[in-house]
Amino acid sequence: MPIIANGGLEDIDFANEIITSEKADLVSIGKAAMLNPDLPKLISSGRTPEAFTFDMFKYGVTIDGQRKWEAERADMKLRA
Ligand SMILES: Cc1cc2nc3c(=O)[nH]c(=O)nc-3n(C[C@H](O)[C@H](O)[C@H](O)COP(=O)(O)O)c2cc1C
Repeated sequence: MPIIANGGLEDIDFANEIITSEKADLVSIGKAAMLNPDLPKLISSGRTPEAFTFDMFKYGVTIDGQRKWEAERADMKLRA
């Protein structure tokens, strides 16, 4: 039966170690992938993913809440 490791595995070196040492067959990434939807592309191109913070959920854990948070963040970046 395949084993999926889960939780706090956004550190790619740690995730790789889990796979190469055969502690699990797959790793799953939750929150870090919510913030970085292009996570596999980011990692494969050598860029550093943005670190997750729970601020992302300030308008609720819904698609509407996420859109609101993203719009607010884009607006703050424009003003900076
Ligand atoms: C917004 C949100 C919703 C989640 N919903 C579920 C769910 O419905 N069922 C479930 O088993 N785990 C759910 N989880 C837990 C994740 O699947 C995962 O186990 C957890 O976030 C730890 O992985 P991570 O450190 O990569 O985020 C949810 C996590 C988050 C942040």
